[in-house]
Amino acid sequence: MVGHNGAWNASPENLNHAQVVMDAVSASGTLYREGLGMIASENIVSPMVQKIVTSDLHGRYAEGLPFKRYYQGCGGFDTIEELGLELAKKVFNVPFANIQSTSGTVSNIAALKALSKPGDSITAVSTADGGHISHARMGAVGLRDLNLSTYPWDEDRMEPDIDASAALIREVAPKVALFGQSVFLFPTPLQELADAAHEVGSTVMYDGAHVLGLIAGGCFQDPLHEGADVMTGSSHKTFPGPQGGFILSSSEDDKFQRRLNNAVFPGTCSSYHLHHVAGKVVALAEFQEYGVELSKNTVANAQAFAAALASEGFDVLAESRGYTASHQVLTRHGDLDSGAGAKAADLLEQAGIITNMNMLPGDTKAMTPSGLRLGVQELTRVGMGTDEMLDVARFYARVLIENEDPSSVKSDVRDFKSDYQIIRYCFNEDESNGYPL
Ligand SMILES: Cc1ncc(COP(=O)(O)O)c(C=O)c1O
Repeated sequence: MVGHNGAWNASPENLNHAQVVMDAVSASGTLYREGLGMIASENIVSPMVQKIVTSDLHGRYAEGLPFKRYYQGCGGFDTIEELGLELAKKVFNVPFANIQSTSGTVSNIAALKALSKPGDSITAVSTADGGHISHARMGAVGLRDLNLSTYPWDEDRMEPDIDASAALIREVAPKVALFGQSVFLFPTPLQELADAAHEVGSTVMYDGAHVLGLIAGGCFQDPLHEGADVMTGSSHKTFPGPQGGFILSSSEDDKFQRRLNNAVFPGTCSSYHLHHVAGKVVALAEFQEYGVELSKNTVANAQAFAAALASEGFDVLAESRGYTASHQVLTRHGDLDSGAGAKAADLLEQAGIITNMNMLPGDTKAMTPSGLRLGVQELTRVGMGTDEMLDVARFYARVLIENEDPSSVKSDVRDFKSDYQIIRYCFNEDESNGYPL
């Protein structure tokens, strides 16, 4: 037998590297287990999905589509992917799904590859107004060498200005009219804008990365039934699956569907992370059972949290529209471009509350913004409801308004969080080990 097994003959330096990683993994796990994970793009996965993403599938390949593979050994995975396609079409009520893409960004790269050619034009929300980097020249839009025009933005309503954006679409006649954002409080007025886009021959693409679970749960909007031709998204934000992506379409056209499939494999992925695809399939099955309730509770929690923060004295955006219709809440902590958001995020982390600073309307610098973007989807997943949102808002006030020492708040956060260690809205909730390593 050749090869080595065990640590006795390994160099201390390499063993130390491995130990450094194990310790950091463990510290990160502890931070989230004991703290409040409130980054709007994150979530935790069910115990069954946790098991699948560490399964043997992790090391396997299955290029192609179910029962049309380039490799042997894919029989089990054919069953998994075929079932996943069926469930995804059912959950999103659409005739086409691709569940292979490895992230929301990869879904966007693939969709733009399928829908456009270099030199074409595209309209999208600017990153300053909450669009994702993949909607910008620095990301997938630039990778495809598309000419970008951004929608005029209605700062009060936190959505594209409908008339001005429709006029822009009619003027530019983009190949792709892209909608959806990373800062996403309210549904896009899609029907009106999709009409304008279709009038000039554009394909309408909606990036539902953040709000995919809310869409599937019937709690936000239904883009593929409001005029979008293609919807991309992540499988791990409000959709409670492992990291990965989806591409969905309302089109029944075989040729169009084939273009989307080919843009993922072989267009963008070779291995498409079979363990994560299998995890997505279980997450879809769990979603069919519990997703509507999870989505409803997520939005109710975001609304309760926003109102609680406002009554603690925080400047919460979009008061006139009821603060939010998604999982996100936006708060302003000082002057534009002052870095007040960065400072607030740092103090909150010292108190065991994990958030991210975010540009708000009027901010111009991504590293010194005035705001925070907060998400309640992970707290909802571990069983918190609207009453607990009042407790969470209180922690924020103690740190950021009453200037209490964050380390003393941190121990109260830890005590509070110890009651929320079981992952809910999944099959084996009762025997859940809760947060993983
Ligand atoms: C609107 C939007 N699209 C795409 C992405 C990228 O998703 P992923 O991190 O899965 O690549 C994000 C990430 O947060 C996003 O906000």
